[in-house]
Amino acid sequence: MEKAVAERTIRLDGKNTTYIIRVNRTGHLENLYYGKRLRQDATIEPLLPNRSVGIGTAVAYDENNPLFFMETACLETSTPGKGDFRTPAVVVEYEKGMTTLDFVYNSHRIVKGKPEVPGLLAQSYAETAQDAVTLQIQLRDRKLPILLQMNYTMFVGCDVIARTCILTNGTKEKLVVRNLASLQLDLPDANWDIVSFDGAWARERGVTRRHLESGITEISSTCGVSSSFHNSAVFLERPDCTAEKGECFAFNLIYSGNHREIIEKSPFSLARFQTGINPQNFSWILAPGKEFTTPEAVMTYSCSGNNTASANMHTFVNKHIVRGTWKYRQRPVLCNNWEATYFNFSEDRILELAENAHDLGVELFVLDDGWFGQRDNDTTSLGDWFVNTKKLPQGLTSLANGIHSLGMLFGIWVEPEMISRVSRLYDKHPDWAIMIPGRNPSVGRNQFILDLTRKEVRDYLVRAMGEVFTLAKADYVKWDMNRIFSDLHSVEGYFMGEFSHRYVLGLYDVMSRLVREFPKILFEGCASGGNRFDLGILCFMPQIWTSDNSDACCRTRIQGGTSYAYPASTMGAHVSASPNHQTLRKTDIESRFNVAAFGVLGYEMDLGALSASEKQAVKNQIAFYKKHRALLQYGRFFRISEGVDSKDKEDANRVKWVVANADYSEMLVLDFQILNQSNISQEILRIPFAKPEFDYVIETREQKVPVSQFGSLINMISPVHISQEGSVKKLIDKNVMLKNEDEYHIVSGDVLAYSGVRLSPQFSGTGFSSNTRVLGDFGSRLYHIYRVERKSKNASKNAK
Ligand code: DGJ
Repeated sequence: MEKAVAERTIRLDGKNTTYIIRVNRTGHLENLYYGKRLRQDATIEPLLPNRSVGIGTAVAYDENNPLFFMETACLETSTPGKGDFRTPAVVVEYEKGMTTLDFVYNSHRIVKGKPEVPGLLAQSYAETAQDAVTLQIQLRDRKLPILLQMNYTMFVGCDVIARTCILTNGTKEKLVVRNLASLQLDLPDANWDIVSFDGAWARERGVTRRHLESGITEISSTCGVSSSFHNSAVFLERPDCTAEKGECFAFNLIYSGNHREIIEKSPFSLARFQTGINPQNFSWILAPGKEFTTPEAVMTYSCSGNNTASANMHTFVNKHIVRGTWKYRQRPVLCNNWEATYFNFSEDRILELAENAHDLGVELFVLDDGWFGQRDNDTTSLGDWFVNTKKLPQGLTSLANGIHSLGMLFGIWVEPEMISRVSRLYDKHPDWAIMIPGRNPSVGRNQFILDLTRKEVRDYLVRAMGEVFTLAKADYVKWDMNRIFSDLHSVEGYFMGEFSHRYVLGLYDVMSRLVREFPKILFEGCASGGNRFDLGILCFMPQIWTSDNSDACCRTRIQGGTSYAYPASTMGAHVSASPNHQTLRKTDIESRFNVAAFGVLGYEMDLGALSASEKQAVKNQIAFYKKHRALLQYGRFFRISEGVDSKDKEDANRVKWVVANADYSEMLVLDFQILNQSNISQEILRIPFAKPEFDYVIETREQKVPVSQFGSLINMISPVHISQEGSVKKLIDKNVMLKNEDEYHIVSGDVLAYSGVRLSPQFSGTGFSSNTRVLGDFGSRLYHIYRVERKSKNASKNAK
């Protein structure tokens, strides 16, 4: 029978949110409140659980507390064995496999700022003491000297709470940690929709929505990387939550390996959310006196729709995850040779591509895969990080000098974590590849993964990469990773349940050492596109290649899903050739740009092969992007309509995104049409968060409309008949582009916010004028909206 302890509450406040924990009379931590910010003098009593009746089969905590059932409590952490039958946050084995533990309050302290969590290489940070407040609560098991420290850092300005747990083994025996969630949030009701971001290679992070039903929903990765299958970001939304209204929570994990998020609806209709290292295939031997620290997890709350939760996460990532030289710095427009050449290039060809790119305004040229060893295809040479002199006879430095002399930055692709069987590295160190002796190893893209749990391998990598970066005078590095894990084994001799986590720790060690050694390099993470798009990587690399799929239409879904948890400044987004190499879809050059502009812009194509008018279009695009890039990369991002991922079926054919500056005096809007329809109803551009008190101009970004879009209709205006198959038609298609419609409005902010502007009609078979919008399938527009002082109260639409 346990003595009662004095009850107390601990409260954390962000700008707009409040989190309240109660230490109850048995010493357990209960969540009393997480939601919209409360008054300082708010009444706490109504938040206390009302425990006045027994429950049939329930297990009461002890004889002194016959009405306290763990099962019905909202707990900050949970263990098996004391009456909580939901998924436990802490499963630790001691003495012949016992797992019952009972963590109760020991002490706590609250400090300003965010003290670094020891031993965590990937974690959030606060630059000033005012940015954050940290609560550290120490719990101890009632019987054994096992301690659990739970850290809560509230990043005040963006309302994000970061959580870690540290488990210390004070016993004289070793413990086996089977599960240690980074964060648990128990909510008092279960009326939530789960929103997760799922997919696979080339279709990463599509939005999945389902209502939380009884039982457990699991979102997880077991393939060794955070994965394109299921991202670690998860939202819980009220069923009526929209982009702009309603309650939601957003969660994420600062981790690049196997993760698990569970959302459980208990028999008593409580909701439990947990995130952390995936316990499947995980166990960690904790020796006496040692501690185990979980990766950090983060969460935020919004009562004004999921755009606000996203905005909180975006500010958090830009301010408290991304660090170093490139923090809040505008990212250069790049050109990457991959889809222009694949493995087949020479130094002259690369310089030619770079010159063409430079002529159009590109600032950084990136040499992708194929520059090293005997790398003419993907069966060979990973690990042989010396230049392929057949392709680049003058070496990397000479190429870098050539590119630098154009006035461009130079970047290089590497895939450090890998080894090809056909490589000098493998000949020398076959045991460095992850394989099980005596078993035929499975392969991914013909390659194997280096055992980064080994220090000698990590040291080699830091050395080898350092040499490459130095020789290449690299301003930028694309760090690729093109296979997932199989045949887990290490010669190091530790317990194999530790392998996957040890790999991630090893990776972070290598990355942190290189980032420290080369602080000026702009690193871009990549894993077959977005197979490792997570906050762990973003602690070292400020941007990530979002997907190998650069088809504009697919990208609206991929970037749209990614935008829930990650800001535009982190998303590599390229304009590539048409037909697109992943989907064979044809999309006009302007629409490809309009979508890519909502990320870190690049071109991944032979820009020299474009027609003169397309080149001009690209030149204009880059100039436009540079002018507005602060807004596009760091503005406040809103989803208005999400195409196929929209909750509202009416919006399924449309993708609308907005970026706004801090005071909403300037905005850019993407309006992307998936499939064209004829004779559609009046289209309205409404920006619900426009400032009612402002007056705005709405301008369309000037873009080219290819004449080819009109097909044989061209004969309606041509004085001579033009055959659809003939060379004249081909010449016209290639070289003639029309200017888009003249669309210009002056609108008061209240009208823009409450009703919206009636846009010019789309081409619909009849009639065509300078006001007709010709979008077609996958067509789009970018609208520039900015505040004006309205001279005449009567100024109105079309008053250009
Ligand atoms: C996968 C990446 O996602 C691509 O962009 C490209 O770099 C290839 N690897 C090169 O092998």
